[in-house]
Amino acid sequence: MKEIKPEEINDNFIKLIGSEWMLVTAGNKSDFNMMTASWGGMGFLWARPVATIYVRPERYTHDYIEKSHRFTLTFFPASMRKTLALMGSQSGRTYDKMQEPTLSPIELPSGEIAFEEARLILDCEILYKDAMCADKFINKQPLENWYGEAKGGLHDIYIAEIKQAWIKE
Ligand SMILES: Cc1cc2nc3c(=O)[nH]c(=O)nc-3n(C[C@H](O)[C@H](O)[C@H](O)COP(=O)(O)O)c2cc1C
Repeated sequence: MKEIKPEEINDNFIKLIGSEWMLVTAGNKSDFNMMTASWGGMGFLWARPVATIYVRPERYTHDYIEKSHRFTLTFFPASMRKTLALMGSQSGRTYDKMQEPTLSPIELPSGEIAFEEARLILDCEILYKDAMCADKFINKQPLENWYGEAKGGLHDIYIAEIKQAWIKE
């Protein structure tokens, strides 16, 4: 992997996150957890490059993010689609995701975990957290479509600085 500056990344993140998905991983080499995410964004805030993710409080990965205040985002080639679907349908609470043979964990200089198979790795440190509130939806349609007892809790919003980035050469 070659380290690059976040501003040198040429990918279209709307396509990358929304259609190709990513893994959100938090923890350290002896204990970490990851989940698939297809909601998020990249941008610039407080004079830094930032990544925003949306994680429901009931996710096991949420516990790890809350503990470490850091996470990595990893993006993969299309051949890893099945693995991403698995990481988005099983919970680390009941399934040992660390044993997944198609993912080889690597430790980043920060101590965070990413995966050898990734084609893009972002190492992120949380700057700000907020919780979505039902009464703040200007348009109530997403609230009705995505939230409720059977659908899941309102997402927590994490805005994190992209501290380091690597791309596969
Ligand atoms: C394609 C896809 C995208 C997903 N995007 C998100 C997301 O952005 N935020 C979220 O909280 N859950 C998302 N999920 C659900 C979690 O990945 C899923 O609940 C996972 O099993 C959580 O694992 P954990 O309990 O080990 O953290 C997504 C699932 C899939 C399949």
